[in-house]
Amino acid sequence: MYTQNRLLILWDEQVVGTLERHGTGKLVFQYSRDWLNNTDRAISLSLPCREKRYSPGISTAFFENLLPENKARTILAFNHRFDKKDTFSFLENFGADCAGALSILPEAGKMDFSPGQYECIDTELIEALDKIVADPDKFTLFPEMKKARLSIAGAQDKLPVYLEEDRFYLPLNSGSATTHIIKPVNAAFPDIPRNEAFCMELARKIGLTVPESRLMKMGTHEFFVINRYDRKMTAKNVIRIHQEDFCQAMGVPAERKYQESGGPGFLQCRQLADEFLSDQGVDVRMNFARIMTFNYLIGNHDAHGKNFSIILEQTPQFAPFYDLLSTQVYPLDNKFAMAVGQTYRLDRVKEHSLKRFARDINIRPQKLASLMDETLRVVAKAYVPLMTEHEKKYGYSKIYDDLIKVIKDNLERLNRFCDALIFLPERYL
Ligand SMILES: Nc1ncnc2c1ncn2[C@@H]1O[C@H](COP(=O)(O)OP(=O)(O)OP(=O)(O)O)[C@@H](O)[C@H]1O
Ligand SMILES: [Mg+2]
Repeated sequence: MYTQNRLLILWDEQVVGTLERHGTGKLVFQYSRDWLNNTDRAISLSLPCREKRYSPGISTAFFENLLPENKARTILAFNHRFDKKDTFSFLENFGADCAGALSILPEAGKMDFSPGQYECIDTELIEALDKIVADPDKFTLFPEMKKARLSIAGAQDKLPVYLEEDRFYLPLNSGSATTHIIKPVNAAFPDIPRNEAFCMELARKIGLTVPESRLMKMGTHEFFVINRYDRKMTAKNVIRIHQEDFCQAMGVPAERKYQESGGPGFLQCRQLADEFLSDQGVDVRMNFARIMTFNYLIGNHDAHGKNFSIILEQTPQFAPFYDLLSTQVYPLDNKFAMAVGQTYRLDRVKEHSLKRFARDINIRPQKLASLMDETLRVVAKAYVPLMTEHEKKYGYSKIYDDLIKVIKDNLERLNRFCDALIFLPERYL
């Protein structure tokens, strides 16, 4: 365990600024003078370039959003002997490879940017997966990987890795980045890797932009693997591409990621898109309409502000979609993470909710109806053949039957409202 009071924030091996512990346990971020003299690139839309230090609230919201939530965080903090709320210590120990382009390193530590320094973890990975299957309450993947000095957000267990020719590696220094994320089985949510693999591929079939993903096997273990869209392979190196999620861009801490607890809804996301992603104009709003429809159909009720991201390269762009899976197939209190109109409940979404949603994302109801209609038609055509394809490739799983039932019911439900929206008399539009 380290014990510094200052961390360096690096972007492409250059120091962007520093992060200090604040008395409250929060963090304080400040851009470095060199960075400000050389560029106007900001690490977040919520942290524009300026000389003055940022307040603990806004600084902490951005950096804390880089950390895992729930169990992995608790175990890692325990193993390294710090409090799980101690964001500074977490970043100090695990900040070398994060979502986006930033590396967070102890100020006094040794910096090693030589590329291609990885260690194969195939054996460790199988051992960890064995443990998780044998005792899911006790073990999670990330904390089992003792050499992992990396961090990735989210509530589910996962591990960023470097993947080459079906072998898995962890980076040994901050010059060597991960390229993929793997998500193992979860005892509480049966066959979740298949669920995600199926939904991600269905999303691609309807024209949503998603990273490449697939199911992989090691020994007897099956898990979900997705390419990182915030990494680019070159002949010599893996390059990090900067990104942030909508909560980070709005300065909203992870504990408020759900709209019901103060997180962003479609209106706020669209307003942010209007302000910063305006060069893509119309497309961005259509993206919201399509993803809302798709999530409704597959029963993905967990699309909160951390499940949409922005790529912060020359001009900010909507990132590919990720974390698309059906939560409705599990016996949960299924409520949408973002309201459709004014309701969070699938069965309470009515024509007027969709009209309100159209207003939130600033498109006409007829336009929404035609986009929804298009999405419904493509999904209706694609979902059963895709299921058959997956079953052939990966073998039978009950989750496929559950997915088919959920999608079929939701298609029927949404179809009715779609028709009603199209035929709504002009005076209501
Ligand atoms: N393909 C990807 N490329 C780059 N970054 C990604 C990718 N997939 C996920 N991420 C990053 O990792 C974070 C966690 O991933 P994801 O949302 O899939 O996990 P999760 O634990 O299921 O999330 P949740 O907390 O919503 O349940 C995302 O918020 C995003 O920042
Ligand atoms: Mg997520």
